[in-house]
Amino acid sequence: MVTNNIVLKEWISEIEELCKPTNVYWCDGTQEEYDRLCEEMVNAGTFIRLNNDKRKNCFLARSHPSDVARVEDRTFICTTSKEDAGPTNNWFDIGLMKTKLDTLFNGCMSGRTMYVIPFSMGPLNSPISHIGIQISDSPYVVVNQRIMTRMGKEALDVLGDEGNFIKCMHSVGMPLEKNQKDISWPCAANPEDKYIVHFPEDRSIWSYGSGYGGNALLGKKCFALRIASKMANEEGWLAEHMLILGLENPKGETTYIGAAFPSACGKTNLAMMMPPECFKGWKVKTVGDDIAWIKPSSDGTFRAINPEAGFFGVAPGTSYSTNPNAMEMLKSNCIFTNVALTDDGDIWWEGMDGEAPSHAIDWQGNDWSPNSKSKAAHPNARFTVPSSLCPSLDKNWEKPEGVPIEAFIFGGRLSKTFPLVYESYGWNHGIFMAATMGSEATAASINQASIRRDPFAMLPFCGYNMAEHWKHWIDLGKKHHQKAPKIFRVNWFRKDSDGAFIWPGFGENMRILKWIVDRVKGEVSAKSNSFGLVPNFEDINWTGLDFDSEKFNSLIEIPKTEGLKEIEEVKDHFDRFENFLPKELEDQRIELEGRLLKEA
Ligand code: OXD
Ligand code: MN
Repeated sequence: MVTNNIVLKEWISEIEELCKPTNVYWCDGTQEEYDRLCEEMVNAGTFIRLNNDKRKNCFLARSHPSDVARVEDRTFICTTSKEDAGPTNNWFDIGLMKTKLDTLFNGCMSGRTMYVIPFSMGPLNSPISHIGIQISDSPYVVVNQRIMTRMGKEALDVLGDEGNFIKCMHSVGMPLEKNQKDISWPCAANPEDKYIVHFPEDRSIWSYGSGYGGNALLGKKCFALRIASKMANEEGWLAEHMLILGLENPKGETTYIGAAFPSACGKTNLAMMMPPECFKGWKVKTVGDDIAWIKPSSDGTFRAINPEAGFFGVAPGTSYSTNPNAMEMLKSNCIFTNVALTDDGDIWWEGMDGEAPSHAIDWQGNDWSPNSKSKAAHPNARFTVPSSLCPSLDKNWEKPEGVPIEAFIFGGRLSKTFPLVYESYGWNHGIFMAATMGSEATAASINQASIRRDPFAMLPFCGYNMAEHWKHWIDLGKKHHQKAPKIFRVNWFRKDSDGAFIWPGFGENMRILKWIVDRVKGEVSAKSNSFGLVPNFEDINWTGLDFDSEKFNSLIEIPKTEGLKEIEEVKDHFDRFENFLPKELEDQRIELEGRLLKEA
C-alpha cells in the first residue's frame, strides 16, 4: 500500500472484498507502466500497434459493437429527493440503487486485476483542481486515464494522508470463471446491464458494464461535470460543458472565452481553430475542448481551468480542412478507438483528407472497401491524445489560477431559426439565452417541439436540478457583476431552402469571434433586435469571403412568427421545472415577447 490516507485504505479494502479481484495494482502513472500495459493489451488482442513510421507509439482498440457511446438512458442520478435531480435527470432511489449495485459488483472482478488509479482533475498545484480515485478492472481505462488526467503517484501525493477524494468505481462487468478465456473488449453486452450511477450527496460514482470512454473514464463526464456541477453549486463555482480558448491579437494580448455547445457541434474544431489569412497575426489558443471549471477569484474575475489533460475527440470528420491542428497532434502517442485500420498499419475514418483507401479493416474487424455499405469507422470513433501535443495549446493552459474568462458563448444546432450571433442585453438575459438553447429535434421527436432543449449544453451532464443550476448562474452574476463576462449566443448551422449551410463555419467562425472580442473590449457598437444585440455588417471583417449584407441580414434576423412560436415553446420548456424556475427567467421570457410584439 502506497498511501497513509486512512479513508482511501479502508475504501480499497472494502471494494476488494466486494469485487474479489485476483490482484490489486496501484498505478504510478509512469511512462514505463503505460508502455507495459499497452504491450500487455497488444498481447491480449485489445490493442493493435500501428505502423511506427506513420503513427509513432499509437494503438488501435476495437470495442464490442454494443459498447460504442455514452448510455444516457442507463445514466442515473440518485438523490434523497427526486426533486433534487430535477425533471431532466434519470432519478433513482439511493437505497434501492445501492442494493442493486451491491449485487452487481459482488465478485465482478474475479479473474481480473483491480487497478487503483489516483488522478487529479486540473493541474496538480491548482486550488481549483480536485482529486479522484478510480478503481477499474480495465487496463484500457488505465492508459486512457493517464492521457486524460494527471494520473499516478503525484496525484496520490497531492491527496496526502488527510485529503478528500471523489470515489469513482468502475467495472466492465464481465467476471471470469476459472480457466475462462478473456475477450478483447469485455463488457456487459446487454444494454440493460449497464449502469452509470451518480450519488451527488456523497460525491461518488459507480459505473458498471461499459468500457467506452464517456461511461468508463470517470474523471470526465461523471466527475468533472455531473458530480462537480453539484459541488460547484454548493461551493460557489461552475463546472460546465465548455471549451476554453484564447484569442491572441497581433500585439500578443489574449482574450479568453468559454463556449458551450451540445455534443457533436464541433467544440474540438472551434477550440483549435486556424484563423483565415485575413486575420494576420491573430491566433486561437487552446486551453480545453470539452469541460471548464470556473471559479470567481477574490476580485470577482471568472477564472477557468481545463480539468482534463488530454482530448477524447470524435475522429470521423476530422481533417486538415476541418481541424489541421488536430491532424498534426494525432501523429504520435495516441489511442484510437473504433477507427478503420489501413493495409499499411495506419488509421482512416470517413471525412479524412484525400481518397478513401481501396481496402481497410473496419471498426468491427471486417474487410472494408469504398463499395461497402457500412462505415469504415464508427461515427463515434475516438482519439485519446495528450493536450501537450496540440500545436495550438495556450501557454497558460496549466496556470494554477486559471485563465480570466471575458465572454461566454452558447450555441446550438438550428437550421431554420436563430441568429448567427447575438449578445445578451445583460447577465440574466444571457442566462435566459443559455437556459433555452438547443438543437433541432430529430425524427424521433418530430411531433414534439421543434427544438430539443439542451440548457447550457448540460442536459446529460447536470448532476442536480437544472433550474437550480440556472439560479446558481443568476446568483453568481449578481454577486460578481463588475467582472461578469459578456454573454453571446451563436448558431453556425442555418440552412438555405436547398438545405445547404449558409455560413461556412470552421475557420471562418474567427470573423464572429473577433466581433465578440471587439464587443468585450468596447471597440464596436451593435444593433438591437428583439433577440439581442447583433453586429453591424461593416463591423465584421469580410476580407476573402464572398458574403453580402443581404445574406448576412438573413442570418441575424428571425421572422416574427418564428420568434413568437419560440416564446410559446420556451413556456412549455419552463413549465417542466414548476416552481423551481427562477422568476428572473420567466421575466426574460415576457420581456422577449414584449420586444417581439412591438416589432413592425
Ligand atoms: C463528449 C460528449 O464526448 O459531449 O464530449 O458527448
Ligand atoms: Mn462533451
